[in-house]
Parts: sequence; structure tokens; C-alpha cells
Amino acid sequence: MESKPTLEDIVSLAKRRGFVYQGSEIYGGLAGTWDYGPLGTLLKRNIVSEWLKFFVDSWDDMYQIDSAILMNPKVWQASGHVDTFTDPLVECSNCHNRLRADHILEDAVNLTEEDLKSAKCPVCGKTGTLGEARQFNLMFKTTVGPIEDEKNIAYLRPETAQGMFTNYKNILDTFYPDLPFGVAQVGKAFRNEISPRDFLFRVREFEIMEFEYFLPENLWEAKFEKWRKDMHSWFKHLGLPEDKIKEIEVPEADRAHYSKRTIDFHYDFPSLGFDEVGGLAYRTDFDLKNHQEHSGKDMSYRPKDGSEPFIPHVIEPTFGVDRNFLAVLSSAYSEDEQGGEKRVFLKLPLHLAPVKAAVFPLLKNKPELVSKAKEVHKLLRKQGIGEVMFDDNGNIGKRYRRQDEIGTPHTITIDFQTLEDDTVTIRDRDTTEQERVKTNDLTPKA
Ligand code: GAP
Repeated sequence: MESKPTLEDIVSLAKRRGFVYQGSEIYGGLAGTWDYGPLGTLLKRNIVSEWLKFFVDSWDDMYQIDSAILMNPKVWQASGHVDTFTDPLVECSNCHNRLRADHILEDAVNLTEEDLKSAKCPVCGKTGTLGEARQFNLMFKTTVGPIEDEKNIAYLRPETAQGMFTNYKNILDTFYPDLPFGVAQVGKAFRNEISPRDFLFRVREFEIMEFEYFLPENLWEAKFEKWRKDMHSWFKHLGLPEDKIKEIEVPEADRAHYSKRTIDFHYDFPSLGFDEVGGLAYRTDFDLKNHQEHSGKDMSYRPKDGSEPFIPHVIEPTFGVDRNFLAVLSSAYSEDEQGGEKRVFLKLPLHLAPVKAAVFPLLKNKPELVSKAKEVHKLLRKQGIGEVMFDDNGNIGKRYRRQDEIGTPHTITIDFQTLEDDTVTIRDRDTTEQERVKTNDLTPKA
């Protein structure tokens, strides 16, 4: 049975099974924030660690860093974020909601006052109530130190990229890499989105995995093409079907201020349709040049063959962790019928599944079964295959249902026959078929 979940199905499963909870829920929440529960944390951790293996650990020319979220505000002046990291904001004079103008009208770039006047407020439905659009800066402001004045303003970083540009010179001085080389970073970013929406899709606090790939200008087109293909392979590695990933060439008018070419990767999200899950940008030498100008520090690269120093250009592949997570959850969400009943299960690839296997004693009130199940559980945990769960709650049907819903690929049951011949049943999540195997065969062979 083909299952086409809605976003509501995903949100409900995420909450029901401990993947994602509303942020500050007991106080009524805080718009644009979500908390990852135990299973969501494991799934997110698996996505990030696969990304590191895929893009960082397997490359000789990648350097991972972890820079501070708070940076000198001059960074954001040099990067252009203070002046241009804005979205158009309009207010409705009837319901007083503040909205993103480009989410009301498609052609936001050429938005005129007339367009807005004739548009309908999407919240209260009135026409002619939307005011003039003004640019709203998305950076969260705070003050550093005990004196709350203008001089001490700092911003929560809206992207992780700038920490990589400001450390580019340090990497050069400590590791002497040849060009091209990349600096990678995974971390939190904050944007004061005008209208956070659609669960994890548009939030105010989120995580980015991205790298800046420094190279001579003449290589940018070839490398851009290479990273474009690698990004496709990454989405495949996440188990996302090819027909649900689309490339969008971003026209100049819609590109970020630093980009000469951008391709956005869109995923077909439930209820939302195709929307951005990652992007690939050619940032030219925009950032390093601006940091050189604003900081007064030389950002040029000195080729080892003694030729003229130059400022490298940069290609940036970027991935929203939360959107990758949402895409994985959505694509794994499946339904079928088992024994005349609807079953929901997550068809997660083994390398992403938060729980790799679950071990059950057939009956929880038989100490000999429980102790054998605990022994098998311990054995599997020792193998370092990832999270292995012990579950003796409720009847066996309920335990299968729970494990299916969290995407556990294999469930192992200890029954009376186990005590006689040391065999267990192992059940496959997707087919629900079971086979009997020796306990020793559960151990991966060297
Ligand atoms: N350094 C480049 C950069 O930050 P971006 O396209 O603005 O590029 C990177 O953001 C990725 O972060 C996006 O591709 C998207 O997946 C994710 N993202 C952006 N804004 C987001 C938000 N408000 N909530 C969740 N994810 C977001």
C-alpha cells in the first residue's frame, strides 16, 4: 500500500514516539522552537555522523571546526548580514498579524505597493488591510557583558559559515593545506523568522551542516559540478527517493547577496510540496575579501610554487539538519495492513535507525526468559552496533508495533525454545517475516 503521509501524521508520530516535542511545551510553547526527544536526538546524531563520514572524514582536504556562536559584530557587518539579511515584512491593519510579504505573493522581488493593497490577508481573510512592506533583519540581537548598551550588541549567528571564514587564516597557518581544501562545521544557527511554520521546516533555532571549499577561481565550475553530484549522492544515502529531490537553479534576483550561482535542492515534503532541504552556492571571494577589508588582515593564499598570492574563491554546500531530519522521517513513514489492522512503520535505513535492534522476552513474568533476554541484550550492546533496546512492556504485539513505529529494523524474541537450543526468532520490520537463528549468529562475524 502506497502511503502518503500528511505533515500532521509526521508531527503526531514524532510526538507519540519521542522524536520531537514542542519547545517549552508546559508553558504553552515558544513559536519556532522544537525539542528533540531521545529517539529524535539519536536519529539526528546518526544523520550528522553519516554526513561527517560522507563529506569530512573520507576526504584528506577537509578540516572540521567548531566555532563560537557569538562573534564580534564586525563579522556581520563585513559579511553583509547587518545590511542585507532581511525579509520583507507587512502588517495587517485588521488582525495586526505580521507576515512575510513574499509568502503572501509569489513575485516578492517585484512586489509593488499596489500588489499588497489588493492582496488578501492570509490570516483574517480581509482585502486591502496589508500595509507597506519594510525590510526586517532576521538576526537575533543580544548584549555581551553586564552593560546593556549599543556598544555591546552581539548577534546569535544566523549561519555557521562565517566562523569558517574567520578561521580560514588559522587553518592556513597551522596546517599549510594546498588549495583546494575545505573547512566544515555543524552547529546551531538562529534566525528571527517572521512566520515560523510547518513543524521543523521553518524554525527560529536550527542546525546547519556545511562546508566552505576554498579553491582558485578557475576551478569553481568543475568543483561546483562535482559537489552538485555529491549532494545528490548524499540525499540517496539518506534513503530519499530520487523523484522526491529536485534541483532549482536560483535566479540572480533571488540569490543571497554573496552568491554568483546557487542551486537549491528541494525535497517533496508532505503537505508542503517541494521546498528547500539544502543548497549549493558559489560565494566567489566575496567573504574573504570583505573580511580582509574590514579586519585589515591579509586573507591571501601563498602558492607553494612561489607564484603570486591571491584570495581564494569559495563553494559552499549547505544542509539544514532539521530539514534533512524531516525529509528522512517523511520518506521513511509507511503504512500497511497486518492481520486486518493498519500498521504504521518507519522504513529507516539501518545506518540511520535510532534503535538498531530490540530484544524481547516472550513473557515478562518468566524469570528464565527475562534473564536470557537480558543476556542477549548485553551481548548485542557490547558489539557497538548502536542502540539496542530491551523491551518487556505490554504484550508482544504491542512491542512489535512500538518498534515498527520507531523504525527498529530487527526485533529479537527469546522464547522457551531459546532455553533449549539457544536459538531466537528475528523479525524483519518491513516484511514482518521471522526466522530462527542461533544466538551466536546474531554476532557479526569478524
Ligand atoms: N551559509 C549558507 C546558508 O546559511 P541558507 O540557505 O540560508 O544558507 C542553510 O541555510 C540551510 O539551512 C537551508 O538549506 C535550509 O535547509 C536550512 N534552513 C534555513 N533556514 C531555516 C529555518 N528557518 N528553519 C529550518 N531550517 C532552515
